[in-house]
Amino acid sequence: MLGLGHVGTTVAVAFACAGLRVHGVDHDASRALAVAAGRLPFDDEEPELTRALADAHASGRLTASTSLDDVRDAGVVLVCVETPTAPAFEALRACCTQLGAVLRRGALVIVEATVAPGTMGAVVRPLIEAASGYTEGVDFLLGHCAERVMPGRLLANLRRMPRVCGGSPAATRRMVALYRAVVEGELDETDWVTAELTKTAENTHRDVAIAFANQLALACERAGADFLAVRALVEKIGDRRVLEAGAGVGGQCMPKDPWLFHAACDPSTPSLVPAARAINEAMPDHVVALVEEALGEAKVALDGARVALLGMSYKPGSAEARRTPSLVVRDRLLSRGVEVRAHDPCVAAFRGDLATVLEGADAAVLLVAHDAYVRLSPADLARPLRSKVLVDARLVFDPAGARAAGLVFRGVGRGR
Ligand SMILES: NC(=O)c1ccc[n+]([C@@H]2O[C@H](COP(=O)([O-])OP(=O)(O)OC[C@H]3O[C@@H](n4cnc5c(N)ncnc54)[C@H](O)[C@@H]3O)[C@@H](O)[C@H]2O)c1
Repeated sequence: MLGLGHVGTTVAVAFACAGLRVHGVDHDASRALAVAAGRLPFDDEEPELTRALADAHASGRLTASTSLDDVRDAGVVLVCVETPTAPAFEALRACCTQLGAVLRRGALVIVEATVAPGTMGAVVRPLIEAASGYTEGVDFLLGHCAERVMPGRLLANLRRMPRVCGGSPAATRRMVALYRAVVEGELDETDWVTAELTKTAENTHRDVAIAFANQLALACERAGADFLAVRALVEKIGDRRVLEAGAGVGGQCMPKDPWLFHAACDPSTPSLVPAARAINEAMPDHVVALVEEALGEAKVALDGARVALLGMSYKPGSAEARRTPSLVVRDRLLSRGVEVRAHDPCVAAFRGDLATVLEGADAAVLLVAHDAYVRLSPADLARPLRSKVLVDARLVFDPAGARAAGLVFRGVGRGR
């Protein structure tokens, strides 16, 4: 296993727990050392993975180091390094070249990292062939099987999600036999580029659909209508579904994968991706504008105001708080002189006491619809606040109910 990040560690642990001998390699020594010692190499809360990693370590089947020399004898090599930008893919390119130098004849190489459509054929295969002197399909097999895991339940996702195995028939036959040891979901066989397009299209589709919901929400605010009412009426036509509007899109993959998809599109034709990304990335600024407007109505200046942010993770119930719109809202408010108090019941760094966070704040801003917040009434929120301001970025609270509780209210998608 090359790359012991969130995904690589999970895959390594799953195979070791299934009885295979696994050696993980990461050029970040702290990650390799952590896995070699049976500890998670990152801070996130992954209770199931933590337990399984300790078991795999105890079994002696999972080892780790920083040297690619240690995979010289491997019959299967999985590649799970970071792939933030196409077509650069610096980590992936370096990894393919290093792997080519040590690859055993007859090995199966599987790229699990998410890549732009066309990357397997244009980047991965030539780099491994050049470094090894081997020919793909003759001396080694090459497949693509992107991961679909989500932070917070990495191991459970890996086991249950269906997977797309891309490659030649000889490669996909071996991939299906391998993955069957750890994946309960369906295993579909196809070619590289279909597998690459499928993975990048999944997250692009969602990002574009959320962007439409956000654009509809902004139009509702501008025109004086309510997003939820409009959406309910649109959805009366059986096959129309509008996703949730909100503070934006976050997480490790959603903001990046559409750009990988976009890299494969004809640059001379219009693309949805830049527009969708721009809409979703503008939502945190829109939330800040709503906070400023609501505080203004309550005669409180943004500079110097004390604001409680409720929800810092990328979605309800998740402990993943990297690259979230909530962090963007927090940073924008801090740069405008706001005293920010951030809370999240699921994220260790923000867990604190909700009552203390709200006590004496000028405004509460709901950014993630965690159960703990959805259960609150507008009166529960109004009571501890110093200035009675509520901004709801997740369409949880009824505007009339909030106003009846004495709150100045603004909400994404809530036209007045
Ligand atoms: N994080 C997720 O939830 C998730 C979900 C689905 C798919 N993915 C995809 O999986 C891939 C990996 O994501 P991640 O979150 O695990 O990334 P990560 O950044 O957590 O881990 C990548 C690891 O690879 C290591 N690495 C880089 N180059 C290397 C090399 N040449 N040799 C050895 N190690 C090397 C890095 O040091 C790092 O530890 C990406 O393509 C990502 O898009 C991620």
